[in-house]
Amino acid sequence: DVEGEAVPRPPVVTIMGHVDHGKTSLLDAIRHTAVVKGEAGGITQHIGAYQVTSPLGGKITFIDTPGHAAFTAMRQRGARATDIVVLVVAADDGVMPQTAEAINHARAAGVPIIVAINKIDKPDAKPDKVRSELLQYEIQVESLGGETLEVEVSAKEKLNLDKLLEIIQLQSEILDLKANPDRPAEGIVIEAKLDRGRGPVATVLVQRGTLKQSDIVVAGSEWGRVRALIDDQGDTVPEAGPSTPVEILGFNGAPEAGDRLAVVENEARAREIADYRTRQKREQAAARATV
Ligand code: GTP
Ligand code: NA
Ligand code: MG
Repeated sequence: DVEGEAVPRPPVVTIMGHVDHGKTSLLDAIRHTAVVKGEAGGITQHIGAYQVTSPLGGKITFIDTPGHAAFTAMRQRGARATDIVVLVVAADDGVMPQTAEAINHARAAGVPIIVAINKIDKPDAKPDKVRSELLQYEIQVESLGGETLEVEVSAKEKLNLDKLLEIIQLQSEILDLKANPDRPAEGIVIEAKLDRGRGPVATVLVQRGTLKQSDIVVAGSEWGRVRALIDDQGDTVPEAGPSTPVEILGFNGAPEAGDRLAVVENEARAREIADYRTRQKREQAAARATV
């Protein structure tokens, strides 16, 4: 951090909750709201991660997570890479196992929770029941005299979405989030795949510094020279600063979700780190096999 200083950065917000409680619908609805109200380009969409502009003018980076019981590791990573967790609880279904799991991940990561009670449009919605159920998990929302910020929403009817964005911005102002953009980038791999046409593609959340085209990057046991950066609208961009989700083309192989990303000074160093980690992985696998 020799050059530059920490400046305000957008909050990274992970949406968590039980399966089918409406996380993706909520994010889709938010995207639409911002499209209608903001300028073109106010919204960026991506598989799992994108940025919107809140009605108060600030940017917010969202990460969607799956609610299915099988994806515990993904939720855990989501909670670790984030500043704020929005806990989506369906008003007709109430607190369910993965709601509780999400609370635990957020706590373990030391991340504040905002409660979004969704599906408030349904005739059988019982938001007060949700509030009292949350007490069993030591979450006391504001309307019950507690400190946890809350909002009743409907992704379907697009109710209170601006309010949710405002609450997120309020919470993030309290957190006073900053990062230094003037240094080599560091981040975390959100997902990665081997694309038929484009080769290995890694979706990365830049957390510090600025990632640039031609940077030499290492993530886990993979490395590469950044051939292209693609933002969450599918546009090629020259660089990506703190709290920005971006696709990286140019890796020699697909890293793993959760791998840390770093920029290194040259290819020799990148190869050295990647080779070392590859050997480590092999040794660990061999050790497991002999147990
Ligand atoms: P997973 O990612 O699989 O955990 O699910 P999810 O939490 O992303 O839920 P998803 O957005 O897929 O929504 C699940 C179902 O709930 C869909 O049929 C949605 O149309 C419906 N749904 C989501 N939000 C609302 C809402 O506000 N009101 C009503 N009535 N239905 C909703
Ligand atoms: Na679903
Ligand atoms: Mg979903």
